[in-house]
Amino acid sequence: MSTWSSANIKRRNGNGSYTIKPVWVWGPRYSGLLWMALICMAFPQFVRAQSHDASIRFDKDAQVFRIDAADTSYVIGINEKKQVQTLYWGKRLCADDIFAAPHSDPGSSSFDSSTNTTQQEFVAWGGGLYVEPDLKVTFPDGNRDLVLHYVSYTIKGSQLSILLKDISRDVYVELQYKVDAVTGILRRSAQVQNRTSGQLTIEQISAATWNLPRGMDYRLRYLTGRWAAEWNLHEQVIQPGKTILESRRGSTGDQNNPWFAIDWNGSNDQDSGDVWFGDLGWSGSWQISIEQDQMQQVRVTGGPNSFDFGYRLIPGEHLQTPYFYAGYSHEGIGGASRLLHRFEISSILPHAPNPKLRPVLYNSWEATEFKVDEADQEALAEKAASIGVERFVVDDGWFGQRANDHAGLGDWYVNPVKFPQGLKPLIDKVHSLGMDFGLWVEPEMVNPDSDLYREHPDWVLNFTGRPRSEGRNQLMLNLARPDVRAFVFGFLDKLLSDNDIAFLKWDYNRNWSEPGWPAVAPDEQKRVYIDYVRNLYSILDELREKHPGIEIESCSGGGSRVDLGIMRYTDEMWPSDNTDAFDRLQIQDGFSYAYAPGVMMAWVTDSPTWVNQRTLSLEYRFLSAMQGSLGIGANLNHWKPEDFRTAKKMVAEYKQIRETVQRGSLYRLISPQNGSEQSVTESVSVDQRHAIAFVFLHSSQKLYPFPRIFLRGLKPEVMYRAAALSGRLVDGQPAIESGAYWMQHGFDAELRGDFKAAAFTLEALQN
Ligand code: DGJ
Repeated sequence: MSTWSSANIKRRNGNGSYTIKPVWVWGPRYSGLLWMALICMAFPQFVRAQSHDASIRFDKDAQVFRIDAADTSYVIGINEKKQVQTLYWGKRLCADDIFAAPHSDPGSSSFDSSTNTTQQEFVAWGGGLYVEPDLKVTFPDGNRDLVLHYVSYTIKGSQLSILLKDISRDVYVELQYKVDAVTGILRRSAQVQNRTSGQLTIEQISAATWNLPRGMDYRLRYLTGRWAAEWNLHEQVIQPGKTILESRRGSTGDQNNPWFAIDWNGSNDQDSGDVWFGDLGWSGSWQISIEQDQMQQVRVTGGPNSFDFGYRLIPGEHLQTPYFYAGYSHEGIGGASRLLHRFEISSILPHAPNPKLRPVLYNSWEATEFKVDEADQEALAEKAASIGVERFVVDDGWFGQRANDHAGLGDWYVNPVKFPQGLKPLIDKVHSLGMDFGLWVEPEMVNPDSDLYREHPDWVLNFTGRPRSEGRNQLMLNLARPDVRAFVFGFLDKLLSDNDIAFLKWDYNRNWSEPGWPAVAPDEQKRVYIDYVRNLYSILDELREKHPGIEIESCSGGGSRVDLGIMRYTDEMWPSDNTDAFDRLQIQDGFSYAYAPGVMMAWVTDSPTWVNQRTLSLEYRFLSAMQGSLGIGANLNHWKPEDFRTAKKMVAEYKQIRETVQRGSLYRLISPQNGSEQSVTESVSVDQRHAIAFVFLHSSQKLYPFPRIFLRGLKPEVMYRAAALSGRLVDGQPAIESGAYWMQHGFDAELRGDFKAAAFTLEALQN
């Protein structure tokens, strides 16, 4: 069916601003998009303008705010009741589209009042609210009613803030928005200000509520897991009622990750369809509620977990929430992931927008466990250097009386028997081999069998007179305490000042229990959930400030602390202690829905693996790990000469492709999930000149050939040369074809047998 549809052309003016020219085109539905594509191909400067601008405008007459960036528009308005209401969130609208003054929903009956059915941006518990509140407080006089109305706004560049106030008390909430020009991702947070003359207690606080377009056929995707089995992707149709994703564990946890994606059920795949997605940047207990109300409206509310929560605000104090990031893609769940990855690289990581490429590292944990000493580590370092490793990391066991996991945590002095002259000789040796040096720490923990605990038993989370539950024979230091914060910062600062250390692997191997803080007043104790995480972030921040060269990995016995909060202070993430290269295909696939391959550490370890006793070729293990940030964790003392030769070749090849893998766009072409026989991923460089496809076969069956691979993300008109990085090209398949050919006709790979792997590169022959 043909219709009129619109396309925007943006022209750059001399003064750097842009003029938007809408054009109307006649043709099949969506032909506006086609025209857009043609115009953009003919005038690439328009593409850049289209995808790298952001604007926030306020229409005073209509009382409507409009945020446009990249391919997304987000529109909110102030209605006649002074409520701040979501009006639109989705694909970018035409610049000239006008929104009428918003009106609250009338409500459907005396049971479903307007307060509940109006899609509000941030709503407090009061005035008969039954949906998930963004804020719930108690005043000392017993009043618990809070109704927030619009007061004022400010717009500064890419930031909007909207001030709300309770209808009678001087409780203010500032809603803060920041839009990312590159991806259209919005960062939202809220600040509750107590301007009354008395204290109040916050019992529930969210960073934001995201309202989806009215509709009832939505699907939710989220990530679940456990130790050694993290990052499972789950899908469910959103039904009336509530789904709560959460952690009550004091940290992010891997049972749920604070990421969600919602699309129209069944109308979507990796590459097309509307997807709304979000990620809460918080490394403490958290919750995200996905709620479909009785009017079939879906809202997503997220912030610190309200379970066991209480935060007292004295007059003049405020509470700033974590950031809740969310975005929209019309390019399916694959497009949503790519936007998030791009956002992490350009806006979240410590050195954004130009984070350094991850070096190839060696870590001896799986080889030696706690048995680290100078001579053995030096011998491993020599072997690691011989295959091209760039960073040598000493894991657990180097400090205190640490012979196993029963003792030593908290005593951060170099073990004098294992390293009689301190770490310097080893570090010098590592440097002389052309590598930099990294060290494992677990700063937030203490073993009861340690000098630190014997001296400061009151430094751990505990309830007076109650047992202190151990996990891996260790207790949690209460980082919310100023003295504990000072101790942790102090020993890390000294470690980094005394030694030439380029990298810390920051581990965290248990969850909270008995989260008491007896040193403060009973009604202050529950703020531990906030203060702990704040201090964690501030230690990381201060360390980075004082030691600007340091890089840090967030590890939590695997992938239990991966989120956009910790990512602002750490350069890479450890997704799982499960290093079985076959299991890793699924783990890494799940991880990639939310987090970029460039931050995903992946080690090549020994075969058979400790996890499943599965035997896999060294080449398979390398190709599995090369889809992320490559590390080697095998016992090099057991390697044969041919293993070193293979490893040296593959490390060199990885260095050739790592920019494409770590910074490029990821396409999940064949999923390894749900018992799939194959797995294929493709990474395409930002300039679309280089691509690499990693191809895995679980097990051949009944003579079926390997399915054809339809590549993505290439320039259709550009010629690309295909080559085998590992494996070989199928006989008779042309080596040089256009991007259109590789994407439409597809690419054939020939893999037969069990646990086979190959990798192919595509190089553009012209710009
Ligand atoms: C858990 C980590 O995930 C492992 O890689 C290793 O560092 C151990 N802790 C050390 O105790």
